[in-house]
Amino acid sequence: MDVYEAIYTTRAMRRVKPDPIPEDVLKKVMDAAVRGPSGGNAQTFRMICVTDPEIKSKMQKFYRACLDELNATQYASVQDQIKEDEKNSERSTPARINDSAQWLADNLHNVPMLIFFFGKLGGESTTFPVLWNLCLSARAEGLGTCITTLLKLKKDEVEKVLDTPEDGFWHMHAMIPIGYPMGNWGIAQRKPANLSTFQDRWDNPVSWEIPEPLWPSS
Ligand SMILES: Cc1cc2nc3c(=O)[nH]c(=O)nc-3n(C[C@H](O)[C@H](O)[C@H](O)COP(=O)(O)O)c2cc1C
Repeated sequence: MDVYEAIYTTRAMRRVKPDPIPEDVLKKVMDAAVRGPSGGNAQTFRMICVTDPEIKSKMQKFYRACLDELNATQYASVQDQIKEDEKNSERSTPARINDSAQWLADNLHNVPMLIFFFGKLGGESTTFPVLWNLCLSARAEGLGTCITTLLKLKKDEVEKVLDTPEDGFWHMHAMIPIGYPMGNWGIAQRKPANLSTFQDRWDNPVSWEIPEPLWPSS
């Protein structure tokens, strides 16, 4: 797959089938993931690939509780807006994301593999290049992924279930559910880059515009 196709179409793919990931495919994805850069090539990251049904079941319960907590606190106003939109029979983007997030919370234990990422405290700048490589290479293999950090609300419980060393060096940074998608791939919807980019100094607009995604037409 062309690198641009992988970049443009790697989206949060939460709804995936329970079909297992063949080991040769997993090896390709993991081998590509660890090509990510790290300061001094220190490679201070670890991954745990969870397929054990008992552990996945525990994680599903944690994840469901975390999502409920988030929706009752930080996302309470978004939830109210979704209900309001539904009354007006509107299918808003937050409602679509919410449906997909709820699906994941209900079905996490049916996802074939959950990949947990660990790094140093505050060391996400090292784990995330690896993690995003994993998402891109998974896409190239036809596998769906979604970066999640929600389980950090129950970080201690999660780390205990995963037997994380107790010396406090390793911290869970993210969890990626991975599997073959139920739906179709599409281009990630984003604001045009010129709206997030300045020239020379803050707030000074760039001279160019990108009204439509440049892939696949260029
Ligand atoms: C740092 C980070 C944390 C995220 N955490 C979660 C999460 O806990 N649960 C979830 O369902 N999605 C999570 N997401 C996925 C985002 O919601 C998703 O990337 C965003 O809505 C864009 O989706 P799209 O690529 O399908 O357009 C996270 C994404 C990032 C980058």
